[in-house]
Amino acid sequence: MAERSQTELPDYLKARDGRLAIDGVDALKLASEYGTPLYVFSEKRIVENTRALRQAVERIHPRVKLCYAAKANSNMAVLAAVLRAGGDIEVNSGGELFKAKKAGFRPDQIVFNGVSKTDDEIRDAIHYGVLATNVDSLYELDQIARVARAESLRANIAIRIVPEIVTRSHIGLQTGLLSSKFGLSPSLLEEAFNRALAARDAVNLAGVHIHVGSQTPDPQPYARAFAEMWRLLTDLNEKTGHRLTHINIGGGLPIDYLPDTAMVEEIGDRERNMLSARLDAGEVIAAALKEAVEADEKGLIEGLTVVMEPGRRIIGDAGLLLTRVCNTKERPETGDTWLLTDAGYSLMISMATYKWYYHLVSASRADMPHTAPYKVAGPLCDSGDVYFDLENGGRLPNYRLLPEGTDVGDVLALLNTGAYALDQASQYNGRPRPAVVMVKESGEVALTRRAETYEDLISFDRW
Ligand SMILES: Cc1ncc(COP(=O)(O)O)c(C=O)c1O
Repeated sequence: MAERSQTELPDYLKARDGRLAIDGVDALKLASEYGTPLYVFSEKRIVENTRALRQAVERIHPRVKLCYAAKANSNMAVLAAVLRAGGDIEVNSGGELFKAKKAGFRPDQIVFNGVSKTDDEIRDAIHYGVLATNVDSLYELDQIARVARAESLRANIAIRIVPEIVTRSHIGLQTGLLSSKFGLSPSLLEEAFNRALAARDAVNLAGVHIHVGSQTPDPQPYARAFAEMWRLLTDLNEKTGHRLTHINIGGGLPIDYLPDTAMVEEIGDRERNMLSARLDAGEVIAAALKEAVEADEKGLIEGLTVVMEPGRRIIGDAGLLLTRVCNTKERPETGDTWLLTDAGYSLMISMATYKWYYHLVSASRADMPHTAPYKVAGPLCDSGDVYFDLENGGRLPNYRLLPEGTDVGDVLALLNTGAYALDQASQYNGRPRPAVVMVKESGEVALTRRAETYEDLISFDRW
């Protein structure tokens, strides 16, 4: 099993004096200064990812809202970096809306999603005047109208549709299926549009929304989603004269979790295709527009804003997790050498729930070939807290390749852990959540979330 060191990612990760450097900052120095585990973010990558995505889509269509999906990572410094880079925001709860406002996003930059919104959350969104509260059911449409009326305000809304679009992503990440909990069924749409127009004193029917799911590896689901929404928009206009002002194509753009590594051969085909997907956002939108907008005699495309909700594509490859090897053991019966780290699934839950692959490299021996196979596991008192597929499902490789001699005290880095890790982290097993730092574009290192303490573990309990 030959393996490159995997620590070279141009302009981001480099081996310097044998150690991993992140945007030029020594990973071992960060580990000793802030402790491990440690989430490390690159401001430069967040900014570049946001700008690149906006430019790619604006080249195809001039009116774009790039609503960063805060659920992917809502650390305030991350939100601030996205905002500075020209991003807008998608929120999924009153708490995320609160954070978006605190970070300084304007009302017209915010889309509010969710399958189970409370009156209070809806009221907050209406008062702030968000671009759209996305309607998840007929019940919720009436709920939004009722709340808006009681406040003598008008809510901007978009109808979330679930048109049975299958993707090749993980089933837990697919949201365009009739078997999923999201959105309104196609058979109820006419009723939804009629109700929304009848309630125009309280709601402004502004758009339609489809999110096909996260880490979607192919362009076709987006094209189908766009075509579906365009058809609804034109039908509605024909029947009622009403003009929708935006189409929201959701998030889901994938990132490549499988760099050029021998590990690839050990991962099943389905996971491999999904995890190594590369999709150009500009091409996705260009194809979707071309397929959908054949004849547009009324010029509906003019004035139409394309809303996107990318999370993973912006933050996924802008973060990594440093962890230290704390224990090692031999299993003479199986011939395995085990490395036990201080980062378990409580800090990257997808590794357990979806058997998500996060590439592991050595920060301490960054320039050495990664060729020695190790069984690697986290510290939690749970047999499932391992870096391989315990159920032998072939979804993760059985061994991780690291430099020969990797041992207790070494610092390792789990790459591409920027999305859906920090926000889903827990204190399971009495482990305070670790610090978060950001390497700023200036090269300075900022502490963007302090490490929790043992006192924090009990601070909400009453006894
Ligand atoms: C409605 C909605 N929009 C956007 C996203 C972000 O998806 P991703 O991070 O894959 O871009 C999600 C996450 O699944 C979502 O549920």
